[in-house]
Amino acid sequence: MNSRPDHSVHAQRRQRLLASLEDAAVVLPAAHLVTHHADVHHRFRQDSDFFYLCGLDEANAVAVLRGHGTGGARDPRFVLFVEPRDPTAEVWNGQRWGTEGAMEHFGAEVAHPLGELAEQLDGYLQGAQRIGFRVGHHPHVEPLVLRVWAQQLERGQRRGGPSASLFDVSASIHAMRLRKEPGELERMRKAARISCAAHEQARQAVRVGMGEYQIEALLEGHFRSAGARQPAYPSIVAGGDNACILHYTNNQDPLRDGDLLLIDAGCSLTDYYNADITRTFPINGQFSGEQRDLYELVLTAQRQAIAAVQPGSSSAKVHNAAVEVLVDGLLELGLLQGNRDAILTSHGYRHLYPHRTGHWLGLDVHDVGASRLGDHHTALEPGMVLTVEPGLYLSNRLPVPEGQPPIPDHWQGIGIRIEDDVAVTATGHEVLTAAALKDVGDMEG
Ligand code: GLY
Ligand code: MN
Ligand code: MN
Repeated sequence: MNSRPDHSVHAQRRQRLLASLEDAAVVLPAAHLVTHHADVHHRFRQDSDFFYLCGLDEANAVAVLRGHGTGGARDPRFVLFVEPRDPTAEVWNGQRWGTEGAMEHFGAEVAHPLGELAEQLDGYLQGAQRIGFRVGHHPHVEPLVLRVWAQQLERGQRRGGPSASLFDVSASIHAMRLRKEPGELERMRKAARISCAAHEQARQAVRVGMGEYQIEALLEGHFRSAGARQPAYPSIVAGGDNACILHYTNNQDPLRDGDLLLIDAGCSLTDYYNADITRTFPINGQFSGEQRDLYELVLTAQRQAIAAVQPGSSSAKVHNAAVEVLVDGLLELGLLQGNRDAILTSHGYRHLYPHRTGHWLGLDVHDVGASRLGDHHTALEPGMVLTVEPGLYLSNRLPVPEGQPPIPDHWQGIGIRIEDDVAVTATGHEVLTAAALKDVGDMEG
């Protein structure tokens, strides 16, 4: 069974959400088990919004939250529908909290067996002027929500009263998740600590002739033995040219003398907070001249981009800081040619650097939260956490933009990315993953 949670943090979040949604009721479904193959399921992974607001790590549950402007003063504000206790099902699949556990440990004022959802939902949504639900994400619950809403619209028309509107509640929840609380940052520091130690061990273990899969096993073995739930995403252990495939996850090839190894791996804790780290280093302990030139360039770009992480900046400014350094360096190395500003404007570097420099990080690896509102880039605020992960990938997979030189053979097969997790603080930033070394000297030897 799950460890006993401190549900006060979830209660505070529900209160904050409902304070901004006075007249609304919110329907918030948990995740379902996902089929792996035949009748085998993937390990359960809770819906991050549900977990953030309820802390319950069980499949199929549905929460109904009701703002203070709905119903009477004594009507419940937090209702949970959960899988009921069932000895046979629990022998096969593990213990459930049941309706009693939902009230005792998770703070539900009322809890019902899941089977009562269809008959009870209408009653709990009455009195709300707005119904908050994330359309398009919960195929098991959505038809019921739409049916109840349609019934309410019809009743409203017949009686001439106001009708509830349906709205996407996720923008409000995601705005909260974007700004991490001190307790969340503490969990992210822990995910970072475990993941940094795994990277350090992996680099020290690498030898020419090992398999990429052996390094994957070492990383993921460390995650689990340190108490993490699982890798935050499929680990990328990419020797040589494999590193130019951004989402390479085969991890089946031998590690070759003279190649670099790119490792992009991080763990997910039992409460789903994640780390996301990339390091790149020479398999035989010695950079070639070309590898060193490119590594130093990516490292400088990453340091400049990290320096741009501060309150009032934006992820666009962080990205631009990295791109400007990369373009200047590539011009110097002869891998780009022409006018710097024209290359920046036309993205003439995209065959060498085809991705953005980072993303929000939190309960999801590519975490929620708007990066822009129309033309306005979200200003960085203390508590936001983003990755900073510039890279260079020298392969002939992408067409070379017009006016740019072909990539000479002796540069090909080099893929480098350096990725850290960075929290915005009141005075600047905190690199959560600083314990994973990245100086040129530390990568050799
Ligand atoms: N590991 C996925 C990413 O870096 O975005
Ligand atoms: Mn990332
Ligand atoms: Mn990554």
